[in-house]
Amino acid sequence: SNDHIGEQARRYGTATIGEAVARLREGGLVAVPTETVYGLAADSTNAAAVAEIYRTKGRPDFNPLIVHAADLDSARTLGQFGDLATRFAEALWPGPLTLVVPRNENCPVAAAVTAGLDTIALRCPAHPVMRELLMESGLFLAAPSANRSGGISPTTADHVERSLGDSAPLILDGGACETGIESTIVAVDNGNYRILRPGPVTQAELEQIAGKPPTIADGGKIEAPGQLASHYAPEKPLRLNAATVDDDEYHIGFGPIAGNRNLSPHSDLAEAASLLFAALHDADASGKARIAVAPIPDNGIGVALNDRLRRAATPV
Ligand code: TXA
Ligand code: MG
Repeated sequence: SNDHIGEQARRYGTATIGEAVARLREGGLVAVPTETVYGLAADSTNAAAVAEIYRTKGRPDFNPLIVHAADLDSARTLGQFGDLATRFAEALWPGPLTLVVPRNENCPVAAAVTAGLDTIALRCPAHPVMRELLMESGLFLAAPSANRSGGISPTTADHVERSLGDSAPLILDGGACETGIESTIVAVDNGNYRILRPGPVTQAELEQIAGKPPTIADGGKIEAPGQLASHYAPEKPLRLNAATVDDDEYHIGFGPIAGNRNLSPHSDLAEAASLLFAALHDADASGKARIAVAPIPDNGIGVALNDRLRRAATPV
């Protein structure tokens, strides 16, 4: 029957959208593909389900979660979108942009999601499987990256399994993430904006939409509580700007510096972003004791790549 064909088309790896919706409605977790990285999703209005996200990741409870919404209209039921936030959302959603806006008075998400802040981080993702899940479930899905806290973000279903091990939940396998690096996080208040985490949406794009540059975050204060200096860390020591390599190093190359594995032989930063986390996973799994990464230009999405690499190179 047609129904049967529909079910077949909606199977992603071992799970169907229907199974994922059922799991989420009963307060369970589901690992979901997005265009940036895989997320560990739960119903954001269910406090027990949200607690299970923190437990599964080993995530400290002061680090709030991003809530994923199907579109701007539904996001408005959770947070306040002034003119500038509306302009960003209309220009860049669905896509790899998270907006931190004032939380609505009657916002139904569990308190633990925002870790006691009066703001909420909202994103409307572009991945077709995630969009199908949001629309089919009608839920607002809290979803951090689907890795153990502090580890490398997963860009394939296999990474999710390797990072979470026995705690890995049902996984919707949507293939490798196209963008490969976490969303740009922008805080908007009183007509100004600050970049809390560099990502696939560049500062130049934001400036063009806003018609002005971002204000600079005041020094020292951690604005996105998850942005600790040591983060996204592989298990092995990592060295940056490595044009040459030692015998005991796995070399991640870029452009003319070939390496054991090259992020983009023709120096395409978007291609490099899509492969960076997979390269770090492979370097961890290799026989080499240490990791070295070739220099990566610090412009466009390269700013986000270098941000993740610097954090990965910082000892815990
Ligand atoms: O691309 C992404 O953003 C992925 C996919 C799954 O959507 N998610 C992701 O989530 O990277 P996570 O939990 O790994 O990073 C969320 C970041 C953390 O640094 C957290 O501190 C910050 O968002 N955050 C969440 N709510 C915030 C708020 N109200 N104010 C400031 N930062 C916030
Ligand atoms: Mg993360």
